[in-house]
Amino acid sequence: MHLSALVAVRRRVAKSSRLTYALAGRLFTCRLACLWSVAAVTVAVWGPANVRAQTAIAASRTGGANFEVPAWSYPYPPGRPAPGAAVKEPAREADSVALFHVPNSTAAFTEAQVENLFGVADWHPDAHPAMPDIVMHGRRPTVMACGFCHLADGAGRPENAMLAGLPAGYIEQQVKDMRSHARKAAWPGPYGPSDYMRAIADSATDTEIAEAAQYYSQLSPRLRSRSVETTTIPKPVPRVGLYFPAAGGGTEPLGKRLITMPSDTLRHDLRDPGFLYVTYVPPGSIARGKALATTWREDGAAPCTSCHGEELHGVGPIPPTAGRFPAYILRQLLAFKTRARSTPASLPMNDVASKLSLDDMIAVAAYEGSLNP
Ligand code: HEC
Ligand code: HEC
Repeated sequence: MHLSALVAVRRRVAKSSRLTYALAGRLFTCRLACLWSVAAVTVAVWGPANVRAQTAIAASRTGGANFEVPAWSYPYPPGRPAPGAAVKEPAREADSVALFHVPNSTAAFTEAQVENLFGVADWHPDAHPAMPDIVMHGRRPTVMACGFCHLADGAGRPENAMLAGLPAGYIEQQVKDMRSHARKAAWPGPYGPSDYMRAIADSATDTEIAEAAQYYSQLSPRLRSRSVETTTIPKPVPRVGLYFPAAGGGTEPLGKRLITMPSDTLRHDLRDPGFLYVTYVPPGSIARGKALATTWREDGAAPCTSCHGEELHGVGPIPPTAGRFPAYILRQLLAFKTRARSTPASLPMNDVASKLSLDDMIAVAAYEGSLNP
């Protein structure tokens, strides 16, 4: 989000340097890549002050003794304030001439079309039923098209959520919980994607939410991330909701973190639903996550499968977790643990999460997020 600022930078950079990308055998002229270097410089300048600020914020919501929401779990450009409810329309500034393509689609869209908050650039219109107006266009000025973030087929992106295949009643209830502020993000500092989602929940009508819920609930979820165990990762640079490999290359130790990056930054920027993200987790996470998900623990804690189903595909009103973005699963576990997400329906999860350490949450998110949805 905050595309207007990004686009303004991008336009300036674009004038002086145009990069050529090779993508699945086709060549695209891309000015988007220049952003990485801008972001890297921003991190260098703003990093230390921002880390201090984030640490202070984290200390304010501990969710129980000695537990702090880690700042890295909500990637966001350092120093950038919360967006507020006012929706900018960067599409007016974006390039509306050069056409982009993605693999396996005959569609062609300009940057302005891809970044249009009130009209979804649909790469695969044949892969899903017709979108209701609220999903395709949203409603000005505040209710951005649901499909802009959750995509036309509901596969979503790691910074938001996969909606495809969630029970319709669950989708409606979640938006209402956000509107009543019973469901908040675990991280109390700025995080554009969730801040915008909350503004949308405030403004969307019950009828619009019901139409979107009906639409997304009938679609099939698809695996969009693979989990990789490692100790070293490409040097990560936070953009809005997601990490990207630093333009200058380099690596750094992963430590005890869960870091998701797009396997292809251009396809991410083009909002292509057809490629995989990579989620890096510490060695041993997947086996540890599997044990947590499937076996009863000594402290009496129930395995995830006891409520979410043998395959973690959901049971009745209980949502599926298999194949949802690991970063999203982790952020929700943090929200349950800190009770930022606290409703009558969430009580079982508040209890489950209270017994999980951060390492447990990373592990179970990496495992469940790597299963077939
Ligand atoms: C600006 C991007 C954006 C747009 C547009 C958007 N959402 Fe979201 N949505 C998010 C983010 C981010 C989250 C995760 C929120 C969190 O938990 O912090 C989310 C979460 C959700 C969830 C919860 C999913 C779950 O698994 O519990 C639902 C339901 C939802 N959105 C519905 C909608 C609907 C309906 C619309 C259109 C009216 C919409 N969203 C538009 C960003 C967006
Ligand atoms: C006692 C039953 C129960 C158990 C055990 C349980 N869950 Fe849940 N889970 C729920 C319910 C109910 C919800 C829906 C909460 C709501 O409506 O807000 C949920 C929601 C979730 C969500 C949010 C999904 C979304 O779309 O936002 C995640 C993530 C999750 N559970 C993960 C887990 C994991 C991981 C485990 C095991 C460590 C687990 N759950 C164990 C009952 C359970």
